[in-house]
Amino acid sequence: MFKKLFFLGEFLSLLFLVSACKKTQSTLKIMDEDFKNLISNYQSYNDDLYDLYYQEYQINHNVILSLNKVNYPTFFELTSSIKSFNFGEGYFVNKNYYLEKTYIPQDLVPVTINKINRKNETMLINKNVLKMATKMFDDASKQGLNLVVFSAYRSFTKQKALYNNAKDPSFVAPAGYSEHQTGDALDIATLDTGLTSYFMETKEYLFLKQHAHEYGFIERYQSDKEALTHYPAEGWHYRYVGQEIATTIYQNHLSLEEYIYMYVELK
Ligand code: DAL
Ligand code: ZN
Repeated sequence: MFKKLFFLGEFLSLLFLVSACKKTQSTLKIMDEDFKNLISNYQSYNDDLYDLYYQEYQINHNVILSLNKVNYPTFFELTSSIKSFNFGEGYFVNKNYYLEKTYIPQDLVPVTINKINRKNETMLINKNVLKMATKMFDDASKQGLNLVVFSAYRSFTKQKALYNNAKDPSFVAPAGYSEHQTGDALDIATLDTGLTSYFMETKEYLFLKQHAHEYGFIERYQSDKEALTHYPAEGWHYRYVGQEIATTIYQNHLSLEEYIYMYVELK
C-alpha cells in the first residue's frame, strides 16, 4: 500500500514537471516571436545573425545592446577610423570615431564665463553649452567655488598643433578625434591647479562630480574607465550631452562609450 502511494506520488511529480517544461517552452516560443518582431524593425538587423542576437538578449534584456554587441564586437577596442555620428545630443567622438577636417560647429559664441585669457585668442563654445555652463558656474560660485574654463572649442588645425607639440600626447587627442572640435566640450579647473591631477582633490572638482549632470555635462574621462575611453583620467574635461543622457550616465556610472553601446543603435 505504502509502495503504491509512493509510486503515485512520483508519477504526479513527473506529470507536474512535464507540464511545467511544456509551459516554459511555449512561453519561450512566444517570447522568441515577439523578440523577432521587435528586433527585425531595426535598420542594423541582419536575419542571418538572429540566433546570436537572441542569445545576447537572453543575457542582457536590451535589444539595442544585443544588436550592437553582435554587429560591433570590437567597439571598445582601438581599431579602424570610423566617421563620427550624431547620437541626438551632438557628435560621438573618441579614438575610433572622428570628425572631418572641415567640420566646424554652426553655433559657436564667445565664452563669457570665468576663463583664462590667452593672447590673440577668442575662446568659443556652442551657444547652448554656454547657457548651461553659465548656470553651473553661477551655482558653483554661490557655494564659494571658483571654476575657470581653460579650453573650449578647438579647430582641427589647433588640435593638430596641440597634439604635435604635446609633452605627453597620451592626454591629447589626434586632430579629428577630439571632442573639443564638436564645440560641446570644456576643460574646467581652478586657477591654482590648472589642468593637473591636483584639480581632482579640490572642492570644485567634487561639485562637478556631484552636479555636472544636472546641467547636462558628464565627466568624460574617469579613472576607472580608462580601458574603455583609452585616455587617462581627466577630471577637468566635461562634455555636454543634455540633462537626460547625462543623468543616465551619472546614475549608472557609465562612460559615454558604454552609454552609446547600450542605448544607441550603431549603423
Ligand atoms: N584631452 C582630450 C582627450 C582631447 O584632446 O580632446
Ligand atoms: Zn578637454
